[in-house]
Amino acid sequence: MDPVRNPYAPGAGQRPPELAGRDRELQQFDVVLERIARGRPERSLVLTGLRGVGKTVLLNALRSQAIGRMWGTGKIEARPDQSLRRPLASALHMAVRELTPRHRDPDRVDAFLGVLKAFALRSAGDDAKLRDRWQPGIDVPAATGRADTGDIEVDLVELLVDAAGVARDVGVGIALFVDEMQDIPPADVSALCAACHELSQQGLPLVVVGAGLPHLPAVLSASKSYSERLFRYVRIDRLDRAAADRALVAPAEEEGVTYEPAALDALYEATEGYPYFVQAYGKVTWDNAPTDPIGADDVRMAAPEAQAELAVGFFGSRYERATPAEREYLRAMAALSDDTHGVVPTSDVATYLGRKPSSLSPARDSLIKKGLVYSAERGTIAFTVPHFGLYLRRHATV
Ligand SMILES: Nc1ncnc2c1ncn2[C@@H]1O[C@H](COP(=O)(O)OP(=O)(O)OP(=O)(O)O)[C@@H](O)[C@H]1O
Ligand SMILES: [Mg+2]
Repeated sequence: MDPVRNPYAPGAGQRPPELAGRDRELQQFDVVLERIARGRPERSLVLTGLRGVGKTVLLNALRSQAIGRMWGTGKIEARPDQSLRRPLASALHMAVRELTPRHRDPDRVDAFLGVLKAFALRSAGDDAKLRDRWQPGIDVPAATGRADTGDIEVDLVELLVDAAGVARDVGVGIALFVDEMQDIPPADVSALCAACHELSQQGLPLVVVGAGLPHLPAVLSASKSYSERLFRYVRIDRLDRAAADRALVAPAEEEGVTYEPAALDALYEATEGYPYFVQAYGKVTWDNAPTDPIGADDVRMAAPEAQAELAVGFFGSRYERATPAEREYLRAMAALSDDTHGVVPTSDVATYLGRKPSSLSPARDSLIKKGLVYSAERGTIAFTVPHFGLYLRRHATV
């Protein structure tokens, strides 16, 4: 098939040609937006799931929904060891800029921007040189006495409450999207939860929508016990058979291309409905299929190339980020997990490697920090990357 017309989109955060199997989440979020705009109490959504299941893509789709309702929006991608202050200030700045043209009182907007600037400048600490190096790009002078204590919890509550007030003036809300939410440093997570709590108590129209790895709920409840009442956790999983078929068939149809049923059987067997794999196999199969319709043989012929591409782009790039000690840990996990998404007791890893569990903690902790593994339950460990165990058993020798 003509590679120029290939519709599939494997890649982190790449918008799929067909967002399959996520109608329920999109509908849920519509209700959330509507209720919050009316000042009704509502839990925000937090999407959790393994690598490559489509969290980022769905988060972007939810953002589009908010934009469609004329809300102000901003997005950040959290990183370990990076304070929320700067990225959050930028995201909020963007959200408020979207509302400014509709606001009737420019002084009130400027007052908020002054508070935002004061909040942002606090990230430089008391070091004047650092302060010079980073300017939030806000033209009004920094305010004093609000959101500028340096205590992130106090400051964030004040800042988000004020931002929500500006949105309410315009009759809309603000939605802030936080990707890789599990990476927010503990003090900042705690502050963010506290701010959301305050906003919901006051019925103010600002929501924080998160996405992250499966242990994100544990991260949030470790920081604030009431986080379960703030967020509705939505597990984003692999696509069921019907949705996976739709993800493949609908984009092909647009190009006048069809699949034989046996080809779809073979594709589901290979991908198990994991969205990243669906796109990767779909793309290679398309390029290799000589004629329409695409048949099971075309899938079989394409499979080695699809696997090779995943080995480099999806698995290999992650494995390469691991140190030798971490790789040893990963390989032990792979040897011990018999199915594709198995959870392994950490004590088994230690036994397998003939080591004391405590001596393996540094490797395990840094693998968690790198987002390669997660611990959903005490004493267990699992891959964040689907089929990673399979990949390691097949490929990794060093
Ligand atoms: N609902 C869907 N239907 C079809 N394809 C999808 C769907 N969701 C995501 N994809 C595809 O899957 C791939 C991965 O998506 P995305 O980057 O959003 O995953 P992720 O969960 O954010 O992964 P990571 O944890 O690595 O950030 C992309 O190529 C995207 O096009
Ligand atoms: Mg992502």
